[in-house]
This record gives sequence, C-alpha cells and structure tokens, in this order.
Amino acid sequence: MSQLQIPREFIQLLLARTELVDLIDGRIPLRKKSSNNYFACCPFHTEKSASFSVSQNKQFYYCFGCGAHGNAIDFLMQYDRLSFPEAIEALAKLAGMEIPREANTAAKPAVSNDIYDLLANITKYYQTELRKSERAIDYLKERAMTGEIARDFCIGYAPPGWDHVLQTFGKTASLKQQLLDAGMLIKKDEGGYYDRFRERIMFPIHDRRGRVIGFGGRVLDKGEPKYLNSPETPVFQKGHELYGLYQALQANRQLDRVLIVEGYMDVIALFQHEITYAVATLGTATTTHNLQRLFRYSKEIIFCFDGDQAGRTAAWRALQVALPIARDDIQIRFMFLPEGEDPDTLVRKEGKAAFEQLMQAALPLSSFFFQSISAQSDLSNMDGRARFVNLATEHLNQLPAGILQKMMFEELAKKARIDVAQLTQPQKRTHKKPSASKARSPSSLRLAITLLVQEPQLATNINEVMPIFEIPGAALFIELLENIKQYAFPNTGALLEFWRDRTEATLLKKLAQTEHMIPAAGLKNEFLGAIEQLRKLAHNQQINQLLEKAGQNALSPEEKQLLHELIHTKKS
Ligand code: UTP
Ligand code: MN
Repeated sequence: MSQLQIPREFIQLLLARTELVDLIDGRIPLRKKSSNNYFACCPFHTEKSASFSVSQNKQFYYCFGCGAHGNAIDFLMQYDRLSFPEAIEALAKLAGMEIPREANTAAKPAVSNDIYDLLANITKYYQTELRKSERAIDYLKERAMTGEIARDFCIGYAPPGWDHVLQTFGKTASLKQQLLDAGMLIKKDEGGYYDRFRERIMFPIHDRRGRVIGFGGRVLDKGEPKYLNSPETPVFQKGHELYGLYQALQANRQLDRVLIVEGYMDVIALFQHEITYAVATLGTATTTHNLQRLFRYSKEIIFCFDGDQAGRTAAWRALQVALPIARDDIQIRFMFLPEGEDPDTLVRKEGKAAFEQLMQAALPLSSFFFQSISAQSDLSNMDGRARFVNLATEHLNQLPAGILQKMMFEELAKKARIDVAQLTQPQKRTHKKPSASKARSPSSLRLAITLLVQEPQLATNINEVMPIFEIPGAALFIELLENIKQYAFPNTGALLEFWRDRTEATLLKKLAQTEHMIPAAGLKNEFLGAIEQLRKLAHNQQINQLLEKAGQNALSPEEKQLLHELIHTKKS
C-alpha cells in the first residue's frame, strides 16, 4: 500500500478523530502545564527536565531539547517506528475506521496474511524440532548459544528428510502452492515438490513488525552451501531486510548506533554479549535502501569488516553505497577486526567491553576514504597527485552538498597540495528554496504565515482577495491561504499533514514551532495588522511598477487611470 493510495480527505478525517494528547499519554504520561499544553520528558532523547510539549489546540508536539516534532502520524512513525502507511493503519484501527483505497492505482497485488501465518507456523515447527534433536542442541551448545538467545531469535531446526514441511503444511494443492510461494519448497523437474531446508539450523528472518518473512539455514557440520537462504518472495526482498533489526528495535527504545556485520551468528553472539544493536545484511552487500532505513532509527552506523584484503574491498564497496546519503547530520564509520576473527569469535574471546573499545576506534568515513584512495595513488609525484585528485573528486561529487563535502574537498586540496579553488566545483544537488527569511520586508509576511500555520482558523478573517505582492514567500502565503479556506483545517497538525510531501513543509514546521508571544485575545488583531501591511506593500509595489513604466512613456489609458486611482487611495 503506498501513500498515494490513501485519500487525503480520509487522512484529514482520521486526524480529526484522533486526540494527540490521549495518543501520546497512552505511551508516555503527560503532565498538564496550562489549559491546553502538556509536558513530559522527551521520549526521543535522554533528558532530566521535561522539554517535550504537546499542544492540544495545535494537535502538534515539539521538543525544545532535540527538536522532535509533528502530528499524531509523525508521533507513531517516530515512537512506534511505523512507516507512514502503518501509522495510518494504526490510527484507523484506534478510531475504528476503515481505510478506503483509491481505485485505479496500479497497486501491487496484496499479500494475503496467510503467507505470514504459514511462516509463523513453520517457525514454531522448527523450534519444536530443535528441542527434539540432541545433535542440533549440541551444535548450538558448542557454539555457546544460550537457550534464552535461541528463544529471542526463534532459532529452530529442520530435521533430515525431504518432505517434513511438505507433509505437515502442504495437505492441499493450494497449501502446496502457498509453501512454494513462501520459498519453502523446491519444484522437481519430474513433477512434485521437496523441502528446501533439510538438516539445518534455522534462523528465521523477521520484518520490522516481527513477522517471519524468510529463513537462513546453516549446515551442522561441513556441507555446501554453508548457509542457505529463502529465495526472494512476495514478502521477502533481501536488499530490503536486515537480520536482527527487529530484535535490536525490541531491545532498545532508542538506537544510538547500529553496527552492520556480515553473519547471522555474529548478530546473535553480539546480542548475547549485550551488544544489542547489530544487524546483518542477508548474504548480499549493503544497499542504499538498507542504509536509508537504518538512518531512520539511528544517526550513527558502523560497518564492521574483517581486517583482511577481502574485508577492505567489501568496506570500499560499502563506502560507495554510503556516499550519496552521507548527510552532515549522520555518522558513518568503518571498523576492522583483527585478521582471522569475526564478531562472533571476537566477542566470545574478548567480551563486550573490549569489543566496544575496538568499535570506538572505528574510522570515520572521511579517514577511511582518504586512506583507501591514497593507497591507490602515489602522492610523491605530480602525476600521482593528479590521478589522486581525479579519483577523489569523482567520489566526493557523490556526497550531498554540505559541510562534510566541503571539508573533504578542503582535505583533498591539502593532500594534493593545490588550492581548493582549483578543484572541480562540486555539482550543486540542492535546489534553492524560496525562503521567507530572506525577504526584503519579511516581518509581516513571516508573522502572517506563522500565525496561519499555528491558528489556521484565522484565515476566515480575510474575505477580500489578497492583491499580488512580490517578496519571497508571497506565493507560499497565498497558496496557504487558499488551501486553508478550501479545507478548513481545524489545527496545525492537520494543516501540516496536507503539506507533508512539499518542499515547503520544512519551513512550515519550523514556523509551527516558533514562540510568537501574542496573547490569545490579540491574535486576530495582530494577524489583521500583518495582512494590512502586506496590502500596503502590494499597493506600493503596483504604483512603483506603473511609475517606472510611465517613465518610459509606455502606459495605456487604462493603466494611467489605474495609477491615478492607486495614488489617490494610497494609505498613509
Ligand atoms: P561466513 O561464511 O563468514 O560465515 O558468512 P559466518 O557468519 O562466520 O558463519 P559461521 O560462524 O561459520 O556460522 C557470513 C554470512 O554470509 C552469508 C550468511 O548470511 C552468513 O552469515 N552466507 C555465507 C550465505 O548466505 N551463504 C553461504 O554459503 C555463506
Ligand atoms: Mn563465524
């Protein structure tokens, strides 16, 4: 289900039926500050004093400490870590409303719940089989896995044999088809099916909501392949999922950092040693999608690789995936293990503290970048340095424009011993945003927009059409005004929802949070005062334009008449 398929009117209705204060209070107890303001310690950062405020009037929350903010949908996305459609679903359920789907959108075929139920039942079956198999239990003991961890990760065992799953879960033709769709069976050339996973320790792969979507299976002794994974299925896309993410989110209210490792057993061993923030990609390289998702949960990602050449190569590949999304507000680092170790062996040998200490020494993206790229060129001569600059520039242009990119170009110039101005200028990736803050006469406009965002009903006080005026932000103001008149947003939260996907949303959210200090009784007058200023501005601008044209003798009779009227009605 994509965002576009949920009608906007429904989202507005849903927000109108939701009380933000109750929604939040059900998760973190709120204290009443004044008639419609509530406070609590912020759930999104660690603090001792209460900086998290919830406005009942605005249906909007805001933390003065960390800047977290939003409406009921944002709260569920941030606190319950739901995606946008999931948050809508959750609110609809609370409100007892059915989500209408807009027709004729090319929707993906819906995955029936049956496939999730089926995979959940197979997981239980494998867990039961594990308890029955001395050999499998011995193997896990040998690897020092505790029963508790085995339970947390729902570890199981697929016994030897070709058709246990097929016989147990595939009693009818349609059930067989479902098993096949779920990746649990393999079709024989001569017709019929057999179990994909046989005589393997089974690692269920959970999605973010805790549903099993696939498996990894490890041989007990030697055998090829060492790990066998579920194929891609309607519910399992390898490049999208991370092993251990569900457990990490369960174990931590807030993820300060995420460690990306290579293997299932690495995640589990680390978890067992109280490093509960490791995830593994599923036998593939890290994808942009993986990283983008992780940055929704944590501002720091540490890649963990083997210290050997293969590890370095893999790290360089990961860096290239990471470059385009390495924004200034996030941290990406690279950790290399001593040769011959993986996180599993290392943490068992050395323990949590030593492992975390090694992690502290992880290289920042910039250091690892220059280290790798210097190793590929000879900086002692001019040709080598030229090659170095070319190579580096190509990569640095991938970075989002920002401080990090700027500093890395400066570092590059220093290393190549040239002036930074001589480097190819990075392509600007950001579009210039119209911003009201740079307006020539910004105060009235800014105030008008701020008040509209904070108290949308004020728009009903404007009955005459607003004249055109030309300062940055004017178009936004006019559109906002029309928009509020058309949809009659009852509060800030509802209004911002409508603007969610627009580039202006950032500015509007900022204005929603500003403290305007105007007492409630004076709001209408202040607002009308600002509007009056804008009308005057428009009036004067129009006069000036006409006068300029008149100076060139280019006024039509109608324009002359208009100029005359404008000057006579000019307000002091
Ligand atoms: P490794 O071969 O490094 O194994 O594979 P490991 O994680 O250390 O496993 P143990 O400790 O011997 O049990 C790292 C990861 O690569 C994927 C798996 O996700 C594995 O955890 N892999 C490896 C496969 O998908 N298939 C394979 O045949 C091997
Ligand atoms: Mn290992």
